[in-house]
Amino acid sequence: MPKVSFEMESVTVEIPEGQTLWDAAQKAGIVLQRGFAAAHPCQGKGYCTGGACSIFLRAPDGAVSPPTWKERFLHRRLFRNHKRLACQCVPKRDLTVVTMP
Ligand code: FES
Repeated sequence: MPKVSFEMESVTVEIPEGQTLWDAAQKAGIVLQRGFAAAHPCQGKGYCTGGACSIFLRAPDGAVSPPTWKERFLHRRLFRNHKRLACQCVPKRDLTVVTMP
């Protein structure tokens, strides 16, 4: 079970294999969707306006699943800025996540 540490919130949780970082945030009680997206959350499907569940990763290459088509095509700007969507990332090893302030 990978350990996910949320740097800004100083919280670490373990999640079962196959769960996403969005699931980890929910388990830790961290709300990732803010602003307009909070009013229309997609519940982890990758469709929030503005990439509301975007995060930075502090992890070595291969620590998370590769970017999905939703990240590459629907959220191109985030992807180009080296952010990921928490709901589309499945951790494979222990890692640290930086949420957006
Ligand atoms: S939860 Fe909506 S894009 Fe990730």
